[in-house]
Amino acid sequence: MTATLLRVHELGRRFGGVHAVRGVDLEVAGGERRAILGPNGAGKSTLFNLIAGDLAPTEGRVELFGRDVTAMAVRRRVRLGLGRTYQTSRVLAGLSVEDNLYVAVLGTQRGHLRPLRSRADRGRRERAREVAAQVGLADRLDAPAGSLSHGEQRQLEVGLALAPSPRLLMLDEPAAGLSRAERVVLTRTLLDLDPEVTLIIIEHDMDVALTVAARVTMLHQGTLLLEGTPAEIRASKLVHDIYLGSGHGGE
Ligand SMILES: Nc1ncnc2c1ncn2[C@@H]1O[C@H](COP(=O)(O)OP(=O)(O)O)[C@@H](O)[C@H]1O
Ligand SMILES: [Mg+2]
Repeated sequence: MTATLLRVHELGRRFGGVHAVRGVDLEVAGGERRAILGPNGAGKSTLFNLIAGDLAPTEGRVELFGRDVTAMAVRRRVRLGLGRTYQTSRVLAGLSVEDNLYVAVLGTQRGHLRPLRSRADRGRRERAREVAAQVGLADRLDAPAGSLSHGEQRQLEVGLALAPSPRLLMLDEPAAGLSRAERVVLTRTLLDLDPEVTLIIIEHDMDVALTVAARVTMLHQGTLLLEGTPAEIRASKLVHDIYLGSGHGGE
């Protein structure tokens, strides 16, 4: 077995009277493809924020890459190898696709934006173009990000998270608002990821999630309801009742 990359122990977060996440235990191995599913309000984004460090837990612990990071700032977790997307866009609309990715490559490095054309800088430019190809934007390098279609912007967001070569990539609803054709492109990008990269994907769209993930964790009302393979999740009466019962079975 590959070593555990992420371990979450009895994790919880309250917002006043709302217990958004409670008593969650989770282990994700290096190289694993994991989906987090659950109806709206299940606590998926809160769990992500606790893992990434955007929120502090009110109970429990988070271990990343073999270290307790419960009290560690987001930036340091990023430097350790965490990459994530947010539900709100981080794309810089006025910059080209390539420049957005270049800035993201630069982001976690110590260097500053310099006009000097150093060798390291050429390497970063190359990396930016490589990531653009990886997310299906190779022919849009010079396009201002603001001119991209919604689907292309979401692809670019995945690229921004991938640019610094994270060991753990966390995507929060990357298929939201995408057309069927755009979902196919996204699914392909995720299936083609470097097998060493660990992926945790929150998805409302079961088709994308169950195609990409080898294991699925189902959240409901802040707690971990069940874990299983996509086949087990598809066959689960409990899952069907929750999705249909909450009116999120379609789409
Ligand atoms: N910043 C916040 N302040 C107060 N309540 C919040 C906050 N973030 C999330 N919640 C609540 O926590 C619960 C889980 O939300 P969330 O994690 O966003 O669910 P999901 O991503 O599964 O839709 C919801 O009831 C939501 O209203
Ligand atoms: Mg959410």
